[in-house]
Amino acid sequence: MKKIRKAVLPVAGLGTRFLPATKTVPKEMFPIVDKPSIQYIVEEAVQSGIEQIIFVNARGKEAIEDYFLKDHPQGKLLAEVQALAKLASIVTVRQKKPLGLGHAILCAKDLVGNEPFAVLLGDDLVDASTPCIRQLMRIFEEEKSSVIALMNVEKNQTPLYGIADASQRKTNPRVYDIKTLVEKPPQEKAPSTLAIIGRYVLTPEIFPILEDLSVGQGGEIQLTDALVKLAMVQKVLGYQYEGLRFDAGDKFGFLEANIYYALKRPEFRDRLIQALKRLEL
Ligand code: UTP
Repeated sequence: MKKIRKAVLPVAGLGTRFLPATKTVPKEMFPIVDKPSIQYIVEEAVQSGIEQIIFVNARGKEAIEDYFLKDHPQGKLLAEVQALAKLASIVTVRQKKPLGLGHAILCAKDLVGNEPFAVLLGDDLVDASTPCIRQLMRIFEEEKSSVIALMNVEKNQTPLYGIADASQRKTNPRVYDIKTLVEKPPQEKAPSTLAIIGRYVLTPEIFPILEDLSVGQGGEIQLTDALVKLAMVQKVLGYQYEGLRFDAGDKFGFLEANIYYALKRPEFRDRLIQALKRLEL
């Protein structure tokens, strides 16, 4: 089994939860304090040792790859972005129609080739001392199997997520052996409260499964359906990552993320606390 060198970042979604802003601007370009949210994701991948970033993008969202690849006359201001683009090569593949997350990942098949790879979804920002995808890569290195990031949610939140039916390892309580996964179950049918979030390490065996998959929930090719099939033929693990996660693809999650990341910045922290107190009155 090879080491994880490549990360697929699917960014071709329609962003309907964030309309009307996403009508002309990709949500991945919305700033969290002063950086587009996609930069946090690319930074996480690069800090985890990823050598190639594969964007799966759609027509009309070219601003995302342009941000990393195009020059700017005031180069100095952009040193941070240029450094990132130097640390990892950035390539893009087009998803012609938004046929779902599973289909988006399948679009990266030729660029990934026959090796295990990471997947990071732009909506999920995770602040952690060890980058979230690095935590999963460590488990992959030990176990040589696909790993899915899991987060414990309230029972009434299960209809919003893919939920794992899994058994916890005694030797490492953060690790779960996945039996199966259920996409957005009603709370009474949820096998657990362990929700899938947007970080995965996948073996290349996922590709033929995705190729054979028919359309699932919501008329889309679902990654969860492919993972269910993968778990029938290979070990698939869940990992309850350490860190704080924000759903920046959702209006409220985006607001929360902005406040959190601003509070972490010494130049904004005190002023922001004062401003929030004042607004509350
Ligand atoms: P979401 O289900 O959150 O879809 O996709 P979305 O379109 O981005 O957002 P909403 O729900 O309409 O508001 C999860 C991830 O998969 C990507 C998205 O860009 C996002 O990173 N995706 C989804 C694709 O790349 N292609 C697709 O066809 C669907």
